[in-house]
Amino acid sequence: MSLLNKIDSIQKDFEAELSAVTKNPSDLKDLYNKYLGRKGLVPNLFPELSKVQPDEKPNVGQKINFLRDYIEQAFDKLDLQKTKNKNTSNIDLTLPGNHFFEGAIHPITKVLNDISDIFKSIGFSVYSGNEVEDEFYNFEALNIPKYHPARDMQDTYYLNNEKLLRTHTSASQIHFMENNPPPVKIISPGRVYRNEDISVRSYCLFHQIEGLYVDKNVSFSDLKGVMEYFSKKYFGQDVKVRFRPSYFPFTEPSAEMDIYWGLESESDYRITKGTGWLEILGCGMVDPEVFKSVKYSNSVSGYAFGIGIERIAMLKYGITDIRLLYEGDIRFLRQF
Ligand code: DAH
Repeated sequence: MSLLNKIDSIQKDFEAELSAVTKNPSDLKDLYNKYLGRKGLVPNLFPELSKVQPDEKPNVGQKINFLRDYIEQAFDKLDLQKTKNKNTSNIDLTLPGNHFFEGAIHPITKVLNDISDIFKSIGFSVYSGNEVEDEFYNFEALNIPKYHPARDMQDTYYLNNEKLLRTHTSASQIHFMENNPPPVKIISPGRVYRNEDISVRSYCLFHQIEGLYVDKNVSFSDLKGVMEYFSKKYFGQDVKVRFRPSYFPFTEPSAEMDIYWGLESESDYRITKGTGWLEILGCGMVDPEVFKSVKYSNSVSGYAFGIGIERIAMLKYGITDIRLLYEGDIRFLRQF
């Protein structure tokens, strides 16, 4: 039989067998291997080309190629690629893989998320305020009238005569209460801005988590209980905390809470100014003037708190220069 006849008869045999074969994967695989496997009928045709007259070689070679493609396509059409023997697959498993770069969570985001999760687990919902505010929300409604000395505590970036960059997340309290009747149980995380000298310890922007709880008969001991609960959850059961009386125009009485960090490393000394204690939040009972500005009745009471995020991040991750948190240096960020 000439080689051309053999090619024809292989094609006919294949067509007959293909129409008779079951859809059983192992039968299909056998059929594939019989024709196209390493020692299959089609690959075995190629060595026979050497016996063909030189001037007929291109024609016969092309016929064999057509037959191979024809059989390939018949299997492709049936989407039976998976029935092929692994050895005949055109995926080269020995090639090196593609490397995908994975992102990491920024330490500030991580602290914000972890602290938010603790408050969410005890029933606080998350409310996002605005970074651009006006004097009413940032100051007046929080009982900080014009020329009040407390405005000096927070050097403000004004955008124009009316708008400013919020100096604290406390402004969110006002927005929320204006639009929602009591009871209120929210946290409001976000970025705040102050025109401060940039140094190892301070920057022109930073982050806070504001908290606000308003209901009937809320007391200062409720506030202390929740702050202690949060501290234990975040810093561990053995954390030591202390409350110090303080002053904020929007709370009365007001306090600051410190946690005892210890004095083991040089950075502990620097960050805690040699005391081992670090102030992490301000808090207090919402001042009745604030309720007045959002038209809440005086039958409610509430507490508020504002947690500083950067300090906590620096302590937790041993970061000694606050500026590292904003520079976006990949060598720093890769460590988290
Ligand atoms: N807004 C204050 C600040 O930046 C922090 C604060 C103190 C928030 C007492 C409060 C609070 O809600 O009750 O510095």
